[in-house]
Amino acid sequence: HDEPIVLGIETSCDETGVGIVRGHTLLANTIASSMDEHARFGGVVPEVASRAHLEAMTPTVEGALAAAGLRFSDIDAVAVTAGPGLAGALLVGVAAAKAYALGLGVPLYGVNHLAAHVAVDQLEHGPLPKPSVALLVSGGHSSLLLVPDVAQDVISLGSTVDDAAGEAFDKVARVLGLPFPGGPHIDRAAREGSGTAVAFPRGKYDDGTLDFSFSGLKTAVARWVEAREAAGEAVPVADVAASFQEAVVDVLTRKALQACARYDVKDLLIGGGVAANSRLRAMAQERCDAAGVRLRVPRPGLCTDNGAMVAALGANLVAAGAKPSTLDIPADSSLPI
Ligand code: KG4
Ligand code: ZN
Repeated sequence: HDEPIVLGIETSCDETGVGIVRGHTLLANTIASSMDEHARFGGVVPEVASRAHLEAMTPTVEGALAAAGLRFSDIDAVAVTAGPGLAGALLVGVAAAKAYALGLGVPLYGVNHLAAHVAVDQLEHGPLPKPSVALLVSGGHSSLLLVPDVAQDVISLGSTVDDAAGEAFDKVARVLGLPFPGGPHIDRAAREGSGTAVAFPRGKYDDGTLDFSFSGLKTAVARWVEAREAAGEAVPVADVAASFQEAVVDVLTRKALQACARYDVKDLLIGGGVAANSRLRAMAQERCDAAGVRLRVPRPGLCTDNGAMVAALGANLVAAGAKPSTLDIPADSSLPI
């Protein structure tokens, strides 16, 4: 074969993800999640996640190889998320990747988690147009990126100054008595409600930056719900969910299209777990159509954290002739883009 086969390992949060790609072709994307163990705490517990990664690592790698019909000896390179993410969780993946690379005698590539979220789309929609703008929204990050070339050059345009978008969904879901992680439940509840029922505040709406803020919105929803409860009135869950979701999605799509306009970019990519949100997808499509911008959103299994995204970026690095990482690369919980 001429295109390199790359094994990618992702352990920045609660998902142990192992993906295998050949160039831009997805061969396997195997995931073990410890989410069930975190649900009763209402959030990911770092120590629990680290231990779960350690237990899941070998079976998940073997599962990915089996799914791809490959053996260890077929692997040409190993890529791993070096950061950002939970320190202990990252360490497990980085240590495993070093061991695999050393044992197999193949190069190791430590990659940035956010850049990997961008690179994954090429597995579904082909090479990313250069340049593109990427909006990454998940439980751990909310960022706008300018992407001249995902293997070489990714520039941060803005990010959240407080809560991540997914975190806001999860916290508001809790206020509404919906299960964790709350994003999908808010999405579903919102379908029965009105996005204009309650005028919730939109943080940093007209501030001229490409940053986000969601904690004021989260607090406003909590206060609104508390006031209803204190007055002994029923909380209209669907209307609150829809109105909260509308505020988040309005700000996200507004700033994403402002970024495209400001840098004269005609391609927008949306990734991360919140990209599964049906209202976000619909409003982004409407606003992109109006602005003459092409929209790319990977399918949900590629939007949430996974190993294929890391393998995809690794394949780009191999193709670009990038220098491999040394075996002493650290896991960096706040790795900048
Ligand atoms: O990317 P991801 O799986 O993990 C990280 O946080 O890195 O994203 C998970 C986040 C959670 O906050 C979850 O509530 C949110 O994505 N999410 C959604 C939806 N599906 C998942 N948020 C809004 N609408 C959804 N349909
Ligand atoms: Zn992520």
